[in-house]
Amino acid sequence: MQISMITQQDMKLIYDNLTPFDKSQLNGRTILVTGFAGSLGYSLIHFFAIYGEQLGIKKVYGIDNYMFGHPRWVQRILGNTLFDLREMDIVTCDLNFAEQADLIFHMASLASPVFYRKHPIETIDADVAGLRRLLDYYKNKKLKGLLFYSSSEGYGDPHPSQIPTPESYWGNVNTVGPRACYDESKRFGETLCYNFAREFNMPITVVRPFNNYGPGMRINDQRVVADFAKAVMNQENIIIYSDGKPTRTFDYIADATIGYIKCALYGRFEVFNIGSNYPEITILELAQLYQSIGKKQFNYNENIIFKEHSDKEYLVDNPNRRCPDITKAQELLQYKPQIHIETGIERYLEYLKNSDRDEYEW
Ligand SMILES: NC(=O)c1ccc[n+]([C@@H]2O[C@H](COP(=O)([O-])OP(=O)(O)OC[C@H]3O[C@@H](n4cnc5c(N)ncnc54)[C@H](O)[C@@H]3O)[C@@H](O)[C@H]2O)c1
Repeated sequence: MQISMITQQDMKLIYDNLTPFDKSQLNGRTILVTGFAGSLGYSLIHFFAIYGEQLGIKKVYGIDNYMFGHPRWVQRILGNTLFDLREMDIVTCDLNFAEQADLIFHMASLASPVFYRKHPIETIDADVAGLRRLLDYYKNKKLKGLLFYSSSEGYGDPHPSQIPTPESYWGNVNTVGPRACYDESKRFGETLCYNFAREFNMPITVVRPFNNYGPGMRINDQRVVADFAKAVMNQENIIIYSDGKPTRTFDYIADATIGYIKCALYGRFEVFNIGSNYPEITILELAQLYQSIGKKQFNYNENIIFKEHSDKEYLVDNPNRRCPDITKAQELLQYKPQIHIETGIERYLEYLKNSDRDEYEW
């Protein structure tokens, strides 16, 4: 199975944007990725598949319970002897097979609001119980880094004075609403990380990703960036389930992956926002971008329409604005997102256009 040209270019972007020091830190590492089969796993795993040997990575272990199905792209990785990817649940699995891991990316979680509202207990389990298992298992082992994927959702609906949002903002979060299973388990996960780092001197870093999109995200994911891509691919109307006014910035997955690798290698406790700090656009403007780029690339000719979602809780506690202050990551990690939203959408749609449908739809 061929790796798409867009993905190959994206992986080169990641490689070219790691410093010689970052690369030397990856040399000799044994890596564990939990939740490897998800949207962000796609880029990280392809990066190791293409550059792992060259970087001197010893082994990449993976854990995923495939709760959303088996992505076809995983098939092409399974034959690569650098990898040992297993169908397991992070909450209950035996970690002994990955005992040698010294660089851990803990991504296993449910990240799409539609799905975490449907499976709130599983969401809490992956972020809290799953994380706790990892921390307990590796607390006395020689780790180089453990990265916990928290979320910008931990900020809840920030006060306007806190946009762009710095890491020092404590958040404005509902503990008992339909999104609380996600927001609060990420927040408690951070507290677990902070205390294990202090008590066991573990090199744990927390990342708060802000709205990623791009190749690897399946079109049935039900996050807005995937919904709009699906509409374009299917030549259907783009549906907005709000008044279109909430604003977000969006970070292309390959760009964000550079930040995640740098965070994982940071080697001591710190919390980083990783995202794009511009342009902050409305959901309607995002839909218009998909519409116009779709027109250029696919002769897409459908409309943008507004509808009420069948799930009555779809908009409950939905933040009005989301935009990160990334000064800390810029200064400490030299993190600098480069792919503008228009280019990113072009690349995402181009990747979908040139892939077989079962590569991105399951
Ligand atoms: N993508 C974003 O924009 C974004 C934003 C904020 C935070 N994050 C966080 O980054 C991480 C990765 O996000 P993503 O977009 O790739 O999510 P995703 O939903 O696409 O993938 C998550 C993966 O985790 C797996 N998983 C879930 N529970 C598991 C369990 N108990 N055991 C093993 N595997 C399990 C799923 O099968 C899936 O393959 C998540 O922790 C998410 O909360 C992502």
